[in-house]
Amino acid sequence: MNKIQEIPFKDIEKFIDIVADAYPGLQISAAEAKKRVKERWRKRRQDKRMSWWGMYRGSEMLGGMIYYDYTMNFFGHKVLTGGAGTVAVSLVHKKEHVARDLMRFFFRHYRKRGAPLAVLWPFRPDFYKKMGCGLGWKMDQYRLTPATLPRTKARKHVRHLGKADMKALNDCYNRFVDTRTGMIEETQVNRNIRYDLGKGVKYVGYVKDGRVLGYLIFTFARGNPENFVDNHIKIEEMVYESPEVLNGLLSFLHTQADQINRIIVSSNDEYFYHCFDDPRNETGNLMSPVYHESHRSGVGIMYRVLNTREVFNLLKDRDFDGVSVRLRLKVHDTFLKENNGDLTIHFVKGHPQIKTGRAAAEVSLGLDIADFSSLIMGAVDLRSLYNYGRAELSKATYLEPLNQLFATKQKPVCMTSF
Ligand SMILES: CC(C)(COP(=O)(O)OP(=O)(O)OC[C@H]1O[C@@H](n2cnc3c(N)ncnc32)[C@H](O)[C@@H]1OP(=O)(O)O)[C@@H](O)C(=O)NCCC(=O)NCCS
Repeated sequence: MNKIQEIPFKDIEKFIDIVADAYPGLQISAAEAKKRVKERWRKRRQDKRMSWWGMYRGSEMLGGMIYYDYTMNFFGHKVLTGGAGTVAVSLVHKKEHVARDLMRFFFRHYRKRGAPLAVLWPFRPDFYKKMGCGLGWKMDQYRLTPATLPRTKARKHVRHLGKADMKALNDCYNRFVDTRTGMIEETQVNRNIRYDLGKGVKYVGYVKDGRVLGYLIFTFARGNPENFVDNHIKIEEMVYESPEVLNGLLSFLHTQADQINRIIVSSNDEYFYHCFDDPRNETGNLMSPVYHESHRSGVGIMYRVLNTREVFNLLKDRDFDGVSVRLRLKVHDTFLKENNGDLTIHFVKGHPQIKTGRAAAEVSLGLDIADFSSLIMGAVDLRSLYNYGRAELSKATYLEPLNQLFATKQKPVCMTSF
């Protein structure tokens, strides 16, 4: 009989053994490396949001994962959100539904605690899409020459940041969290741990009147291996609170032109290329008729609605763009049966009221939980899901008002690695 439970720290080596085999790319198979992982996790236990869970058969561990009790901005509400990380199954117990059962248990754990959503970074999107997770918004990675970045006097406010600045930096980050759906709060404890553990990581900030109003966390990356003076700057995290602050940070990067070949920067902002006179990357590739290659793009973060009813309860004060409609929402959830089924919602001038029983509806909208999760987060619009055949409407004439109802002003973003 298999049992899922929290892993006591005395058992953590069993999980590390499984992780070492599941992620050979991490190169943690040697005894010394495993010891380092143990020490790292011992430190990270100070962040009480993290817990380690395993599936046991007797005293044997079959697989495990890490839970993160995150607080995420969901249209202005700070909600408990379950983060799933380091899912790993023993090499000799693959294809026995260990991962399936771990994930279902994880979703139920957070649903029972009142979390409306879960988040994860997938090793393969289709694996988790089958379990009801929907793709979030994409990420674009630019490789810009420093000289193409703007240069203004705002650079004078940019200086190195050290450990003593981590409180002000984290306050800046958390102010940004307040403004965007999908952003996850960072604790001071974890910010400090990350600072201590980061090797070769540089911090610079835009500081005015003692406040950090924006910052860059970056590393140097090697360019041509035959040429030791060919280096890039790789931005790991960039936050700014105003155009002036952004210009200060970009000016700092501009002035690295003598030393730096490319600034490698990732952005969720679909309009980011308008910030630069020359957003092309170094490939020189041209697409027909004359599109210069500017960035590469990736999909990553996935969202999973755990409780559809709770989502609309939470959002009862949100104005769904003034639309009035009596909607029957049919969310198909084969993985989490308790979340499967119909929900009748009457939107009155944009405000949702959940109805019970067989309340009247003008139109029904049917879609899979994975697509619904992407839709409610604002990562995709309903019109596209309908056009791709992934959402069904009982009356096609309702497409435009319902598209307007679910539309969001901004895409969801997430800067938390886990
Ligand atoms: C990827 C990995 C975790 C999979 O582990 P696993 O225990 O072999 O996977 P499972 O046997 O549980 O396979 C998933 C099952 O869930 C099932 N499933 C998925 N969605 C389902 C749904 N909605 N309803 C019912 N079953 C579902 C799948 O069909 C599959 O079962 P099947 O093989 O009978 O078709 C494992 O191979 C591993 O550790 N890989 C290396 C590390 C890694 O990549 N981890 C993931 C990091 S994000």
